[in-house]
Amino acid sequence: MLQAAQYSANETLRNGGRVEIRALKPEDQTDLIAAVGRSSAQSLYRRFFGVRRNFTQQEIEYFLNVDFVNHVALVAVVEEGDHPAIVGGGRYVVVQPGKAEIAFAVVDQHQGQGIGAALMRHLTAIAREAGLKELTAEVLPDNISMLKVFEKSGLRLSTQRESQVVHVTLQLF
Ligand SMILES: CC(C)(COP(=O)(O)OP(=O)(O)OC[C@H]1O[C@@H](n2cnc3c(N)ncnc32)[C@H](O)[C@@H]1OP(=O)(O)O)[C@@H](O)C(=O)NCCC(=O)NCCS
Repeated sequence: MLQAAQYSANETLRNGGRVEIRALKPEDQTDLIAAVGRSSAQSLYRRFFGVRRNFTQQEIEYFLNVDFVNHVALVAVVEEGDHPAIVGGGRYVVVQPGKAEIAFAVVDQHQGQGIGAALMRHLTAIAREAGLKELTAEVLPDNISMLKVFEKSGLRLSTQRESQVVHVTLQLF
């Protein structure tokens, strides 16, 4: 049984560096806000469908107080200089029995190194272990890197294009 709230795994990045994919902790608040601060307007737009740099206390609590059952959040941590820094995160929220919506963000400086794919792999493992059947995501049509991460996940995928968004559905079984 995977203990989602204690989850931790180490991975090697494309550039040979190391990343820890671990469960989000309440004390990550400052680092999480710092990661948002380092993200480009385009990345924030792709994640939140709007350039959000400031969040209400209620929103911050929502992002941090995950129960690891209906809301599971992982972060990607790399050593930067002499300290660990959160450089990405992925989460899913159960929206109906067996079905969860997923979303990711990696700070620009660390994109393209496999962090998105690693977050996807580990969230998928947790979702499967929890017995979920389906993951969904809403992706902007020009967001090639996110669509690529989903295509390369190995999961059965279907997409439905609407005017401004692509609905992605991934089958876990
Ligand atoms: C989408 C995102 C999470 C992916 O994270 P990442 O760490 O860069 O992902 P990876 O390195 O695992 O893989 C990205 C893939 O996209 C590719 N890619 C990146 N930019 C690309 C572009 N402009 N055109 C084509 N492919 C591109 C990479 O080469 C890689 O593909 P590969 O494995 O075939 O080489 C990250 O780019 C991000 O945070 N974007 C902004 C927020 C966002 O879009 N969130 C999604 C909301 S659901």
